[in-house]
Amino acid sequence: MNFRRPLMLASVFVAALPAVLAAQGRGGPQEPPKNLQVLPKDMPRQQVTAIMNNFTAALGVNCAYCHAAAAAPAGAAPAAPAGGGRGGPPLDYSLDDKAQKKIAREMMKMVTDVNGKYLAGAGLTMDARNSVTCETCHHGLAKPKTLRNALGGAIDAKGADSAVALYRELRTRYYGAAAYDFSENSLVAAATDASRANKSPAALALLKLNLEFYDKSAATYSAIANTSLASNDTASAIAALKKAIELQPNNQQAQGLLTRLTAKPPQTK
Ligand code: HEC
Ligand code: HEC
Repeated sequence: MNFRRPLMLASVFVAALPAVLAAQGRGGPQEPPKNLQVLPKDMPRQQVTAIMNNFTAALGVNCAYCHAAAAAPAGAAPAAPAGGGRGGPPLDYSLDDKAQKKIAREMMKMVTDVNGKYLAGAGLTMDARNSVTCETCHHGLAKPKTLRNALGGAIDAKGADSAVALYRELRTRYYGAAAYDFSENSLVAAATDASRANKSPAALALLKLNLEFYDKSAATYSAIANTSLASNDTASAIAALKKAIELQPNNQQAQGLLTRLTAKPPQTK
């Protein structure tokens, strides 16, 4: 069934073709691609470029992220702008010098298999609107990651302060984009991970940070209670549970825990 691969690739990767073709029309004649290994070897350059535009948008990068600069002939004036280097040196798109280009080839094969082999094999009818594309995972990031994992990595590498700083930075830069989930429960999930890894101070720092943005978050107060308990700070746990219940009077879990904790005299550490 090898003949199906080019069809799948074309349908998956070229959704935005008409707009891009219009844009390309100004560019004048261009030589055909000479080093296509995943796309059909004879795919016209315009069509390849349309796919490439989808790649750059999906990953939030420019062409030079995957394509290496052309070797400039000694003493020669720079060749015509390569239209993607954004003011950088002209690129030779046929070179395979960059690791990212090789990774991208594997990603292309993966995406083709996900759609053509696994999703279609599961009996789903795949078309251009429901197919997995680079964007499905990348969401405008070269290295796609959940916020939870990005923060967990920062805690492991440099501690709680660096995770808090990273959150602020990412939120400023990506809020409103699909790149990261900044909704109420995201930091709670990251804090729960930290708490499970016995990093209660980091967990508390993230939860406190969440209250800056979601000051009515009962889930955050409940998580503060659980994390405080894990570090034997019963007084803080009780205070947080009271706050959670104030915000969410029918929160039975918090009620139950509060009843249990206040049954005996609270002990601070
Ligand atoms: C995420 C990585 C990535 C980005 C970003 C990217 N490309 Fe590519 N490009 C590739 C890969 C991989 C191939 C080879 C595809 C294959 O082997 O079938 C390729 C091939 C090409 C080719 C064919 C070259 C030849 O002679 O074989 C052209 C032209 C091209 N890209 C242009 C561009 C342009 C213009 C941009 C920016 C708008 C761009 N690319 C951005 C990964 C990328
Ligand atoms: C199923 C999810 C998924 C899909 C679909 C996907 N990628 Fe990726 N991609 C990833 C993950 C995960 C990484 C690794 C991120 C990291 O290293 O932190 C990655 C890494 C990459 C990298 C390396 C980035 C770097 O600088 O290390 C490139 C290039 C890339 N993808 C290109 C693509 C292209 C092009 C497509 C579409 C043809 C695509 N990906 C589709 C999940 C995906």
